[in-house]
Amino acid sequence: MIILQVTIFLVIWTSKCAAGPNILDKIIPEDALLNFTDLSKKYGHTAEEHNVVTEDGYILKLFHIPGESKKPIFIMHGLGDSADSYVLRGHKSLAVTLANAGYDVWLGNNRGNKYSRRHSNLNPDKDNKFWQFSFHEIGIYDLPAMIDFVLGKTKSDKVDVIAHSQGTTAFFALLATKTVYNDKINVLAALGPVAFLGNLSPPISTIAITGPVINQVLINMNVEEIAANETAARELQTRLCSLGFIGGNFCRFGLIFPLFGFDPEGLEAEFAPIALAHFPAGLSRKSLVHYDQLFYSKRFSSFDFGPSMNLKIYKSFGPPDYDLNKVTTRIALYLGRNDPFAKIKDAELLKEILPNVVEFKIIDSNKWTHVDFAWANDMDKYLFPLIFDILKKFD
Ligand SMILES: *[C@@H]1O[C@H](CO)[C@@H](O)[C@H](O)[C@H]1NC(C)=O
Ligand SMILES: *[C@@H]1O[C@H](CO)[C@@H](O)[C@H](O)[C@H]1NC(C)=O
Repeated sequence: MIILQVTIFLVIWTSKCAAGPNILDKIIPEDALLNFTDLSKKYGHTAEEHNVVTEDGYILKLFHIPGESKKPIFIMHGLGDSADSYVLRGHKSLAVTLANAGYDVWLGNNRGNKYSRRHSNLNPDKDNKFWQFSFHEIGIYDLPAMIDFVLGKTKSDKVDVIAHSQGTTAFFALLATKTVYNDKINVLAALGPVAFLGNLSPPISTIAITGPVINQVLINMNVEEIAANETAARELQTRLCSLGFIGGNFCRFGLIFPLFGFDPEGLEAEFAPIALAHFPAGLSRKSLVHYDQLFYSKRFSSFDFGPSMNLKIYKSFGPPDYDLNKVTTRIALYLGRNDPFAKIKDAELLKEILPNVVEFKIIDSNKWTHVDFAWANDMDKYLFPLIFDILKKFD
C-alpha cells in the first residue's frame, strides 16, 4: 500500500501545475507564501542573497543574515529541502536564533532546489544532464564553492557548520574526497547524520527495497526532477492543509509525516501548511537512487553506474567507498530516537570509523524525528542548547 502511495505521490510531484489564484488563497497562512528573504525580514533580519557558481557551472543561491559579533556559521539543509526551513519557525527558527545571538549566519541551497535551479549553460527544463547529480556532486562541488565564498567574504580561516540529513552526507563525501576542506571547518554539527543505511526498518526499508522498480518507472517516464517548486502536489498540499479539519488530518496523517517520523507535539497541525508550502523544494531522481544504493550495499560509497561504466570511471567493477578515516574535522553527531532515516545503530557505525567525533548525543525526547531537527516547535528546548554548547566549546 505504502509503495503505491509513494509511486502516486512521485508521479503527482513530477507533474507541472499552472493553477491561477484561488478562493482558498485567502486562508493560506502568510508564512506559507513568503520566501526566505521575506521571512527573514518579517522576523527581524535583513538577508542578503549571493549567487555562487560552482566549478561545473551550477549557479547556487547563498543567503546571508549578517551577524554583529561572532564567527561565520554555515547551515546546510537536507534532501529536497532549502534554506527556508531555518526561518520557517519565525523567532524560534535556527537561523533567527543564531543571528539574534550575534552569529554571522550563511545558508546554502544545493543544486536543483528552487533557489539553485540554474546553470551557466544547461537548462534545467530541457537538459537531463542538469539533473545528473546526487549528494556526491553536492558534496564535492556545491559545498566547496559556498564554503570558499563564505571564508573569502568574512576573511576567516574556518567556518562552523550545521548540517542536516543529506547536508551531512554531502559533507562526509566532501571531507573524505577533498581533504583540504577538513582544515576549513572548525566543527561540524551533524543533525540526523546519514552515511550508512544498513539499519533502516519498515516502512522506509520496504520503500527502499522497491527503489529499483520505482526508479525504472521514473526513467520510463523520463522523470529526472522530483518535487519541483511548482507542482500539482504542492498546490494540492498547500490548499488541503489550509482547510480546517480536513487539512489537519490530511497533513498530519497523510504521506509526509508518517514517512519522516510522527511527532504531533513537535509538529502541530497548524504548522503543516507552512512546512508543506516550502518542502519539498526539488531534488533529482539520481539523489534517491544513490541513497537506495547505500541501503542495498550497506556501505558508504560513490555512485554505482553499473560494472562497465564503473570500470571506466573508477577503474573497478564496484564503486569505491568514501574513506571516512580522512574526515579529520571535529564532528558532533545528534540523533533522534524516532528518526526513521538516521538510525542510531547506523550512526554508531559512523562514530566508530570517523577519527574525530567530539560529541554523540541522542536528543532527550522519545518522539524526536528526522524533520524535528529542522522544524520542531520545541527545538529551542531540545536542540538549540546542544548546538550552542558545541559552538561555545570550540569557540
Ligand atoms: C523573495 O520575494 C521577493 C518578493 O516578495 C523578491 O523580491 C525576492 O527576489 C525573492 N527572493 C528570492 C530569493 O526568491
Ligand atoms: C515557487 O512557486 C511559487 C508558486 O508557484 C512562486 O510564487 C515562487 O516564486 C516560487 N519560488 C521560487 C523560489 O521559485
